[in-house]
Amino acid sequence: MDADAQRPRTATEPYRVHIETFGCQMNEYDSDLVRSLLTSAGFSFTEDRERADVVLMNTCAIRENAHNRVYGHLAELRPIKKQRNLVVGVLGCMAQNLKNDLLEAESTIDVLVGPDGYRRLPDLIHRAIASRDHGTTLKGLSLDLSEYETYEDIVPEQHGGVNGWIAVMRGCDNFCTFCVVPYTRGRERSRDPEGILREARRLVAQGYKQVTLLGQNVNSYRYDGWDFARLITAVADVAGIERVRFTSPHPKDFPPALLDAVAEHPKICKQIHLPLQSGNDRILHLMGRSYTRKDYLSLVEAIHARRADIVLSTDIICGFCTEHEEEFLDTHRTVQEVGYHSAFVFKYSERKHTIAARKYPDDIPDTVKGERVAKLVDLQKAISLGLNQRMIDRTVRVLVEGDAKRSSDQWMGRTDGGITVVWEKQDMPYIRYGDLVSVKVIRASATTLFGRPHPL
Ligand code: 5AD
Ligand code: SF4
Repeated sequence: MDADAQRPRTATEPYRVHIETFGCQMNEYDSDLVRSLLTSAGFSFTEDRERADVVLMNTCAIRENAHNRVYGHLAELRPIKKQRNLVVGVLGCMAQNLKNDLLEAESTIDVLVGPDGYRRLPDLIHRAIASRDHGTTLKGLSLDLSEYETYEDIVPEQHGGVNGWIAVMRGCDNFCTFCVVPYTRGRERSRDPEGILREARRLVAQGYKQVTLLGQNVNSYRYDGWDFARLITAVADVAGIERVRFTSPHPKDFPPALLDAVAEHPKICKQIHLPLQSGNDRILHLMGRSYTRKDYLSLVEAIHARRADIVLSTDIICGFCTEHEEEFLDTHRTVQEVGYHSAFVFKYSERKHTIAARKYPDDIPDTVKGERVAKLVDLQKAISLGLNQRMIDRTVRVLVEGDAKRSSDQWMGRTDGGITVVWEKQDMPYIRYGDLVSVKVIRASATTLFGRPHPL
């Protein structure tokens, strides 16, 4: 922690903000937007919650455990707030979805701002500070969803490093019955491609090498004559970009032109995250996913026929309303059949306001959900290990991202397909973050390839 952060703030110094981010990459991106908006309004930032004048939590509503973590943090802030003049703000999806519950139950909260209300945040914080200074407790709210807000003119303050992110669209119109996102992030809006390309060029100028395009359903990207395939190709053509990734497409409308772009463009990574959710047709129908197991498997076949080296990953929900054991086993079989490289497996978590919460019973016991998750995780680990072991003795091109998680004596990077590779720094002392290097795989676990430098 820097010494400056330890010093109490003087009356003339900017207010210090501490931001905690929960949930997905889109939330991380939104926190970067918030940081940029607050910097322009004269606020400064601290990593140390104890020294902050303002604590903001950018929240996620997608599953119960995300909620619980935020409630836990609010409980920690309560005694701190009694000791000093702290302003607490809850931002993002949970603020949007639980506005009344939060305001009634949580006197700790001064400011509540949904994903489309960030422009008002500096003003709401100033008002909350003024109100506290006068001994009153004004609640500042900005919870209207917008059909237009894309924060087009705001340059997010990203953290530096190798990986940059660009939100290309906001919101979702799919209304999968389990999902709260259409209610918290509102209607689908695509950003102007010119703004996206400007952001990509700016990231390159700042030294970023890899850009990930973000959207709740990138296949729905539309702007004048542009669709997502055209957009990602234009981003990949920006001079200086090494790699472009994207997340996530919906399997119901995966455009052939996007598959062509992934297969052919050397800068677009050979990796597709393709959320399955369930491998059973009745459950898929109840989930409102608009595809069958057969449709999904045909798409996988088309992808692998186009290029066998495209790496697939997925999201799966276990124990959705009324899911029988045999129906779960259809999912298990599908995972086996596809052979994903990795899978995020979740217990179904009923979310307020969703179609499923209104129409279907959340009737699968938590223990059964847990058992199904464990079975899929075990299966996936075995598949991942098998796929990774097949890489042994091969040489892979790796973009160096930084130190390995376990040891700063090791480098960490990713293959084009997004697989993590780790190797000893002493084997390659001359490289830097952002370099593309060749590494020979000598060992593999389910999550990681271990390598050794390979002369070209
Ligand atoms: N319960 C469990 N998982 C969910 N997801 C979305 N909503 C829920 C929910 N209510 C999962 C889906 C989605 C991923 C981002 O989160 O698998 O693809
Ligand atoms: Fe949620 Fe479905 Fe939209 Fe994904 S596509 S954000 S799961 S509603």
